[in-house]
Amino acid sequence: MTRTQRSRKGSRRGRGKGRNEKNAAGFRATATACANIALAKYWGKSDVELNLPAVPSISMTLDGLVTETTVAFEPWLDHDVVHLDGRYASGEEARRVVELLDRVREAARMHMAARVVTENRFPTAAGLASSASGFAALAAAATRAAGLVWTDAQLSRLARRSSASAARSIFGGFVELPRGRPGRDSLAARALHPRGHWNLRMVLALTAKGKKKVGSTSGMERSRRTSPYYEAWVEAAPKYARRIKRALADKHLDRLGRAMEQSTLAFHACAMASDPGIIYFQPATLAALTTVRRLREDRGIPAYATMDAGPHVKVLCRGRDADAVRRALGRTEGVLHTLVCRPGPAVKVKRAR
Ligand code: DP6
Repeated sequence: MTRTQRSRKGSRRGRGKGRNEKNAAGFRATATACANIALAKYWGKSDVELNLPAVPSISMTLDGLVTETTVAFEPWLDHDVVHLDGRYASGEEARRVVELLDRVREAARMHMAARVVTENRFPTAAGLASSASGFAALAAAATRAAGLVWTDAQLSRLARRSSASAARSIFGGFVELPRGRPGRDSLAARALHPRGHWNLRMVLALTAKGKKKVGSTSGMERSRRTSPYYEAWVEAAPKYARRIKRALADKHLDRLGRAMEQSTLAFHACAMASDPGIIYFQPATLAALTTVRRLREDRGIPAYATMDAGPHVKVLCRGRDADAVRRALGRTEGVLHTLVCRPGPAVKVKRAR
């Protein structure tokens, strides 16, 4: 059924039937989810259609970066409407939201169109808006609004279809997403350790404003198709993930940090060698990386860096070193803004029908 057919059916059902409209007003829920930072990176898909990652990843959910999403299925709407931070979403952005809503409608056997209102409650500086927290919040709000009561694993699977890193944001604390086997749609993330497991901080150093030029979805696909280092990356990544998992369990920051830095530099090397090359680094990225090394080498502060598909540098350290790390990054040439995050909570549905 096409979207328009489905929507018309939805409107016919609702219109002129006071009872249905009243019921439909209940098809509404709000959810919050936090962004996450991968300690062991995901880069590359083993199945593009099912959006399955080719490598395992491990993340920390971040408390400071929250997306709140409300989904309301309304019989009087004839198509889905998506508001994103106060503006109408369109094009690719809206398409990915509608795709997730279609999966929920299919599971709930319903036909109504929805209004989606999403707000990123991120601190002022731009460049952090996250598809991970966005799709995790959307998955939780949309399923609950449709009357489905799903497990975390089911939500994680739904979020993963839209964005694999979003599968991890369903859970709080420290989270693992295994690699996917082609054709198997059941892949979901799972919690490794709760938030209180370890008093770590992730200090974010923002080095640029605005949107990155090559998004992760297209960047990793380009790497898979053209980078001579792609296979080497896919072979090495599970080793970094295993080390990181063990170091997390043992609360061994040096082992964790070293494997984390290798994971990020290996994926960036793979991306850089793509055709055309994908270079996320800015001068301030390198300056921040130098600051992190100096903190370790000159001041003996165990601080380790990771970068996603963008120019910002995120630095993992102990709770008691967070202020010193933040100050050092704040003084670094080209760093625009810093922010300290703790391990964050799982997705939460705030208001259900
Ligand atoms: C570099 O989850 O955004 O941040 O599944 O195509 O939506 P899609 O990709 P996405 O990729 C995130 C890549 C990364 C590393 C990571 O978060 O693991």
